Amino acid sequence: MNFIDSWLTKLEITSQVKIESCSLQFRLILGMVSVLLLGLSSLTIWTGWEMEKFLIVTHQQKVEAIANRFLQDVERYSGTLPMETGLQQAIDRVSSPDLLMWVKCPDGKIMTQSKGLTISPPDFQTVSVSIQQRRNNFQVHNINGRQMVKYRSTWQIDSNTIGQFYVEQDMTNDHSRLMAVLQSLRMAILLAFVAIALAFSLLIWRSLLPLRQMSQWMRTHTAQPNPFPLNLHQAPSEVKQLAKEWNRLSTHLSLRQEQQRQFTNNIAHELRTPLSLVYGYLQRTLRRSDNLTTLQQEALSIAASETEGIIQLLQNLINLARVDSGSMPLRKEVLVLNDLMADAARMTEKFGHRTIEIEASSKPVRVKGDREAFMQVLTHLIDNALKYSDAHKPITLKLRQIDEWAVIQVCDKGCGIARAEQPRIFEPFHRVDQSRTRSTGGVGLGLSIVKSLVKEMGGRVTLQSTPGIGSTFSVCLPLANE
Ligand SMILES: Nc1ncnc2c1ncn2[C@@H]1O[C@H](COP(=O)(O)OP(=O)(O)OP(=O)(O)O)[C@@H](O)[C@H]1O
Ligand SMILES: [Mg+2]
Repeated sequence: MNFIDSWLTKLEITSQVKIESCSLQFRLILGMVSVLLLGLSSLTIWTGWEMEKFLIVTHQQKVEAIANRFLQDVERYSGTLPMETGLQQAIDRVSSPDLLMWVKCPDGKIMTQSKGLTISPPDFQTVSVSIQQRRNNFQVHNINGRQMVKYRSTWQIDSNTIGQFYVEQDMTNDHSRLMAVLQSLRMAILLAFVAIALAFSLLIWRSLLPLRQMSQWMRTHTAQPNPFPLNLHQAPSEVKQLAKEWNRLSTHLSLRQEQQRQFTNNIAHELRTPLSLVYGYLQRTLRRSDNLTTLQQEALSIAASETEGIIQLLQNLINLARVDSGSMPLRKEVLVLNDLMADAARMTEKFGHRTIEIEASSKPVRVKGDREAFMQVLTHLIDNALKYSDAHKPITLKLRQIDEWAVIQVCDKGCGIARAEQPRIFEPFHRVDQSRTRSTGGVGLGLSIVKSLVKEMGGRVTLQSTPGIGSTFSVCLPLANE
């Protein structure tokens, strides 16, 4: 049962994989089928040809033996009987419905012939409807659908030519039997072809299974540092080697990634503390700026706002590194999303001076999660909606409950995101249009933080967007059990 189950699972995996014309599996099967087809059809043709040749040679030998015996009979009879009577008796002795004989004078007239031969026997050269084979005195031809072997010999006595004698053997029955055998042989070879092709296809499919398992594993585990499990017992050694190399590479990459994350985190921490101090001094100086000129005040406020931007960026970097490395433990408290969404909308309206509409049912939607993390997710999404849509366009927050999920949507009627860009916008530092986004500030970390936080909370984030019409980011979180 286990064996059948494992095969069914493998079939399930592979049935999802389309056979592409440029895939290794397709090419191997095509190559194998072509070679097999060529080999088996050549074998069929060669066998048929050899068997037909054998049949003809056998009949030729038989006819030749009969002709020799005939000449001996004629010699024997000619001692006691007139030549014509002796000839006729010799012919009658060997003639049968399948074997006819006749003798022609040198002037072309029939001297004598088998009794069964009622019509005038045709001439050796003119008779051939379709000559299949000709060897010395032999000729194989087809008369009215019957396969005949004809033999001609010059009859001489004491160097005087008496005439030409002909023997004709009907080999239609043997030929039909041969055709039937060949037909069965072709059927057997066709069945063998199908069976061998199926067996080889299965073998190829099975040999490539470890590769498919590997690619499936890579698809689902690319972002994780754990190595590919090497339980490829029956896999070819090349595949095992490939898996080993892949493990080495992925371990190396994840080590590098970890080092990079650590480095970014350290730098961000190191910079944030002095910058926060600078920002504090700048704010304090700005508050007591009565004795400064307007120009100096402007310069100071620009410096303060730039410093604030950099501190925010550093904070985002630290947050992303913490979430990605799993060192940011999230609390599991029950959150009423209706309240949190209302809070986020109020704060945005207060500081962003934009109206936020809320569409939510009065029934409270509860999830289990970290309040701070959830607010960060909402803030980043609302911040994007504000940044990438015009000031007079509305922004809507929607809250719904679908099956076991709470669905939070942040909708704007802004510039939207091109389809080709959509899969990449959740990558760190990826921004759609550098020239456009430069004016809006930011470095492209917001959505990466959103994705990591939502994943940590057991949910997922998706996007529907049409350029020029707007975007909707949907966050799905598992509902808290009642
Ligand atoms: N609502 C939206 N409408 C149009 N484009 C968007 C929207 N949200 C995100 N984008 C595009 O996706 C990119 C990545 O967004 P993300 O929030 O990660 O970075 P950012 O907003 O540019 O910078 P940061 O969030 O770090 O301040 C943005 O640069 C923008 O081009
Ligand atoms: Mg952003």
